[in-house]
Amino acid sequence: MNKILITGACGQLGSELTAALRKVQGSENVIASDITEPNPNLGEGPFEYLDVLDRTRFEEVIENYNISVIFHLAALLSANAEKKSDLAWRLNMDGLLNTLNIAREKQLKKIFWPSSIAVFGPDAQKIKTPQGSPCNPTTVYGITKVAGEQWCAYYHKKFGVDVRSLRYPGLIGYKAMPGGGTTDYAVDIYHKALAVERFSCFLEKDSALPMMYMDDAVKAAIDLMQSPSEKITIRTSYNISAVSFTPEQIAASIKKRIPDFEIEYEPDYRQEIAESWPDSIDDTPARNDWNWAPQYDLERMTDDILENLPALIQKDALSP
Ligand code: SER
Repeated sequence: MNKILITGACGQLGSELTAALRKVQGSENVIASDITEPNPNLGEGPFEYLDVLDRTRFEEVIENYNISVIFHLAALLSANAEKKSDLAWRLNMDGLLNTLNIAREKQLKKIFWPSSIAVFGPDAQKIKTPQGSPCNPTTVYGITKVAGEQWCAYYHKKFGVDVRSLRYPGLIGYKAMPGGGTTDYAVDIYHKALAVERFSCFLEKDSALPMMYMDDAVKAAIDLMQSPSEKITIRTSYNISAVSFTPEQIAASIKKRIPDFEIEYEPDYRQEIAESWPDSIDDTPARNDWNWAPQYDLERMTDDILENLPALIQKDALSP
């Protein structure tokens, strides 16, 4: 059984990916790591404090647990990266390079690294952006993701590192909160709707963005990592798509189930980031190469969240 290390495991994707991998691989085989305290969403299993910029400590964890697979998720998201560009460049680049160098030197089996729709800029086709569209981002985060994709392709070609990547759209889940992204509004909106609070949206009502429910995001990472290496024809990063909607459309989907829900629009600096990204994505190569297919559309996602989130809120309120 492979021993798996997840960096950034306490983040929005990391929490749910850790829990899912622990179910499939056995808790003791999945080592969660982060620079914050472990949260209950991770489930039972080993946890290590790890700053991915600390190469010595990173290697120590790899050796101590005999790790052969890394899901390297530690990074700054788009809105935070605009505010802290130096840190974003250091964390997003050096963290990835540490991972790739360790994989190369210790001959690890496989690496997963998330890229993003943020690799695209205003000159990319807006609707159903194809895999091969130009990648000229106008955000710091996007620049780190384009450079990261090129490093992945380079380490694969030059050193045979089996690194695989997905260009995630905005990820929506109800268990762990995102932090510092442009698509975070689509998570917060459900919490405000259930708290019967008027929701102030930081994007314009008609700002369409590609999005994906967390179950699909986790499934995509696991499916990609389980595919035979020869099926992976793209070593920068795969476009993947699930749904695309505007704030007005997600609000309408909530209003169908919570008629009193109210939203207002107060766009801020994140509007400019959203405008530079595609409205929707074409993911034909992912579908052809490793049979990618999403399971959730907007309505199914809203049903699932509104069904499960109230119990979680109640549990949190009761916990000390
Ligand atoms: N959800 C991310 C962000 O908004 C996009 O990759 O930063």
